[in-house]
Amino acid sequence: MVDTPTRRIGTLDGATEADDAAYLDFIEGIRVFTVNDVTPALNERYAELEAEFEARHGRKPASVEEIRGELDRLAILQSHRRLFRSTQDMRGVALLETYGKREAELIRELDEFERRGPGRLLLDPTLKLPEYYTAVHFHRQPGGYADHPLAGYIYHYGTKLLFGGKNDDDSLQRNMVKSVPLPAGPIERVVDLACAIGQSTTAWKERLPQAEVWGIDCSAPMLRYAHKRAVEMGLDITFAQMLAEDLKLPDNSVDIVHCFILFHEVPVEVGQEVLRQVFRILRPGGLFSVMDVGQAPQWTPLDAYLREFIIRDNAEPYERGWAHWDFPGALRATGFQTGSGPDSEIENFPGSNSAHHSRWFAYKPI
Ligand SMILES: C[S@@+](CC[C@H](N)C(=O)[O-])C[C@H]1O[C@@H](n2cnc3c(N)ncnc32)[C@H](O)[C@@H]1O
Repeated sequence: MVDTPTRRIGTLDGATEADDAAYLDFIEGIRVFTVNDVTPALNERYAELEAEFEARHGRKPASVEEIRGELDRLAILQSHRRLFRSTQDMRGVALLETYGKREAELIRELDEFERRGPGRLLLDPTLKLPEYYTAVHFHRQPGGYADHPLAGYIYHYGTKLLFGGKNDDDSLQRNMVKSVPLPAGPIERVVDLACAIGQSTTAWKERLPQAEVWGIDCSAPMLRYAHKRAVEMGLDITFAQMLAEDLKLPDNSVDIVHCFILFHEVPVEVGQEVLRQVFRILRPGGLFSVMDVGQAPQWTPLDAYLREFIIRDNAEPYERGWAHWDFPGALRATGFQTGSGPDSEIENFPGSNSAHHSRWFAYKPI
């Protein structure tokens, strides 16, 4: 083992030792290879399969069922799945090990930052995390979002690997936040709902420095890390532990609620309650900016096949409900006026095979 000073990668506190860093770089390399080389080759093979189907039937396959047998036998598709699944597991083991070597020191650091500003951290030790949440270790992250004190570190490095190093400067969140059309009237308070480690939250504070910016999440370890990260960036943000379906904020008190990739990680009934809460806290004319993974109507049969795999093998069980939920209909039923629907302007979205994602701008009527 070679000792090395901890590597900083953007705002990420990297591997503890050089050997660990080399192993994580190797995982990142496989991920980049998967995205840059295997995925395009898979798409080409799929186009050939589709053309063969069309030659036989006079039309393209209408659903994954019509082409499942061929997909099951497609070697490059099975290799694609294997590479994704293996790198996810290699990542989990490697991150537990590397951060585990400094666990006490990192926890002490989080404790110290809890007392520092700018900004503040409001944890709720009485909050009872719901069963639907604790039962799942999303993305096969060891300990899940909330059951490991270093969950924020593990998540941050895990997403770095998922993005193949292309989001080390939060460019995904920064571009997404920059492209949100601001609602009319003064903007005094912005809430980033399900903020995780606060990458969108800090992007909002950078965009609107005069506004009071809140990052809300139900995981204390994620919020502790988010607060430390924001303090290091010199940004005055309030991070608060709450459930998105039980927001402890007054009616009509928020100008913008932003929510990036929460809805596919909660059951649809919970999602419905989140919509009601967001509607309640927004002021008339306030904006709800939502972005999430693509839904079934956007999928090709190949996407459907790959998403089934993600749902089952990457611990994303609620994506099944999300995929078929009429979200714009639910927004309207809650009282929102919806603006534009799916859009594909944001680069680097973490799709398994495609860049499909869904985006809505919804307003509380005046
Ligand atoms: C994929 S991450 C969100 C990423 C983040 N929005 C960003 O901009 O990078 C999902 C987050 O949702 C949080 N979460 C899941 N269910 C929640 C709930 N019911 N209430 C509050 N937070 C929740 C998780 O703790 C996790 O931090």
